[in-house]
Formats: sequence, structure tokens, C-alpha cells
Amino acid sequence: MEKTIAVLPGDGIGPEVTEAAVKVLKSIAMRYGHTFHWKFAAIGGAAVDEFGSPLPKETVEACEASDAILLGAVGGPKWDNNPAEQRPEKGLLNIRKHFDLFANVRPVKAVPALLGSSPLKEEIAREVDMVIVRELTGGLYFGEPKRHNENSAVDTLVYTRAEIERIVDQAFEMARSRRGKLASVDKANVLESSKLWRKVVEERKAGYPDVEVEHMLVDSAAMKLITNPRAFDVVVTENMFGDILSDEASVITGSLGMLPSASIRSDGFGLYEPVHGSAPDIAGQNKANPSAAILSAAMMLRQSFGMESEASSIEDAVMSVLEDGYCTGDLSACGNKVISTERFVEKVIEEL
Ligand code: NAI
Ligand code: MG
Repeated sequence: MEKTIAVLPGDGIGPEVTEAAVKVLKSIAMRYGHTFHWKFAAIGGAAVDEFGSPLPKETVEACEASDAILLGAVGGPKWDNNPAEQRPEKGLLNIRKHFDLFANVRPVKAVPALLGSSPLKEEIAREVDMVIVRELTGGLYFGEPKRHNENSAVDTLVYTRAEIERIVDQAFEMARSRRGKLASVDKANVLESSKLWRKVVEERKAGYPDVEVEHMLVDSAAMKLITNPRAFDVVVTENMFGDILSDEASVITGSLGMLPSASIRSDGFGLYEPVHGSAPDIAGQNKANPSAAILSAAMMLRQSFGMESEASSIEDAVMSVLEDGYCTGDLSACGNKVISTERFVEKVIEEL
């Protein structure tokens, strides 16, 4: 297959970890006979410095001419006092909006070699394997009116039927391709938007007789994520609940440096990036854990390109390196041998 990939390294450790992911993808291309074309472009603080905007039009054009986007991370103290339109994170918000990437997908899977760094007991964290599907472009973060003064403040939680249908369908498809279980999380006992959400889930269910659906209130879901995380397969929820629950779930496996994510739309186009930020404290030191970026690249192959066996081989390679007892410094609590970012990538490629 022939594909074009936009690579947006961004700031801090972003360039190091995306370089790692690109190396792994090049090795996959060689092994499986694919041709990947690369379009490198600026985003975040690096783009503000070079172009005066966190999402320059050159970058948008590079992405429009690509089949998927691979992103590092944006932000850092250098740009913290910039005006709102020139803040690095604005680049990320704008690119999601520009491409209408309405579904944020975060897999959370226990890594046997790293169970020691989970805040949960090993027997609870073991075998956790879920995906959180969060609605990303609607809800409380975007609804109007939205304002405050000295004495009152208002935010608006609004969802249209169409917005709910497309995210719910995405989650049903994902559940169908996994263990066939979908937990739809809402607050239907008090929120009107949740009542419509629940109704839409009930209607769409008819198209997916092979998927078992459970409706769950968000407060109860928050408890169950900690007491019995293994019970979840696919979780679908609106923007704010998803923001909170996905961060809660992400700590179960023990390290930020391991977690990939995707922001996608229905036609398969998507943006793939690690869950972690730009880690300015370790940037440029060849210390960053490249796993989250490499696993994001694997998600890209699976979700945007339909390359299932290529994706699994990358995931297996990362797990074998960890099982062999090698890791970057963020995972040293596991008692493994600490190696550099570059060495870790070489080991992953050897495993491939
Ligand atoms: P962070 O995720 O960058 O770092 C938190 C801690 O985890 C730090 O100690 C860091 O060294 C460590 N860490 C993160 N990723 C790692 C990796 N791959 N390997 C080894 N250690 C890793 O979050 P923080 O410190 O809150 O934010 C730093 C900057 O990143 C801020 O400017 C923030 O706005 C930005 N940020 C950007 C995100 C994005 O681009 N999607 C997401 C979160 C934060
Ligand atoms: Mg968040």
C-alpha cells in the first residue's frame, strides 16, 4: 500500500518521540512492502516561533494532502505567557476542529512487565484491556451561551442527535471488533442531554445485535473503573465525562509514557498522538519513553490504513522489549534496565 503521513513533531520531547515512531514505521514499510511518504510540518510553540501561529496554513495543507496525521506534543514554559491565539495548545484544538475529529479513542491496556507501577493492586490491574471513546467536539466545552461576570456564570451542555449518533456508531463498531461489550456512560437521572444520549444508544443498538450494551451513570462508572476495571471493553461518553474518565483510566496501567491515543472521524482519517505532554523537564536528553508515540503509530496503521497485522507486530515488539527487562527512566520503578530513547527504538526494531 502507498500512504502519505503528516508528521507534526511539536515541542519538548515531541520531536524525539515522533522520530522514534517514524523509524519504526519505516522498518514496517520495508518488511511489509508498503511505501510511506512523509510530510513534516510545524505545530505548537515551534510553529509560533517559525510562522507566528500555532497552526500555520502550510501545516493544514500538509495534513489535507495526507492520509493520517502523527503528532508529538505541544507546549512548554517558553510560550506560557503568550496571548490566547498564540498559545501552543490552540494549535491542537484548531487542528481537531478543522478536520472535525469528533471521536477521541484511548486504549488502556495492562502491560504485564509494568504492573508494579500501577497504583492499583496487581490482581486488579492485571488483564485490564479497554478503550475509552470520548466525544470531542461538542458538549459543555463548546456550547453557547458561555460567559461569566462577578455574580453569575453559565456554561451550556448541548448535543444534537446527529452528534450523538456518529460517536455512538463509532463506539458500536469498535465494540464489535473487540469483545462485543459497550458501556454507555451518562447522567440520565439529572441531565436532559443524557436522556437524549441514552435514547439514541437504545435506537442504534438495533443495528448491532452482536454488541451487549450497558447504560451506566458517570458517578458509578468512576467507581467501577477503580474497583473492577477488567469489566470494561468499550466505554462511550460525552466530552466532559470522557475527559475525566479517560484520565482516571490512564493511570491504571502505571505510566503516562505508554499510552497512545487517536482522534478520528467516520471516514478513517485521524490524528494519532501520545496521551502525555511535551515533558520539558526531560526534553532533548534522550530519556523520553517513545512507547506512547510508537503505539500511536500502530493505532494509525490499524484504524486509518486497515493494517492489522502490521499494527499488532509493533505492539508485540514494544511488549517484548519491556518483557526482556529494558525500559526508559520513567519506568525504572519496575526494576528494569534503563536504556536511552534511541536504544529503546533500536530494540523495538530488532524485535520487529
Ligand atoms: P507531561 O505529560 O509533559 O509530563 C508529566 C510528567 O511525566 C513529567 O515529569 C514528564 O517528564 C513525564 N513524562 C511525560 N511523558 C513522558 C515520556 N514519554 N517519557 C518519560 N517521561 C514522560 O505533562 P505536564 O508536565 O503537565 O505538561 C508539560 C507541557 O506539555 C505543558 O506545556 C502542557 O501544556 C503540555 N501538554 C501537552 C499535551 C499535548 O500536546 N497533547 C498534553 C498534556 C500536556
Ligand atoms: Mg484532559
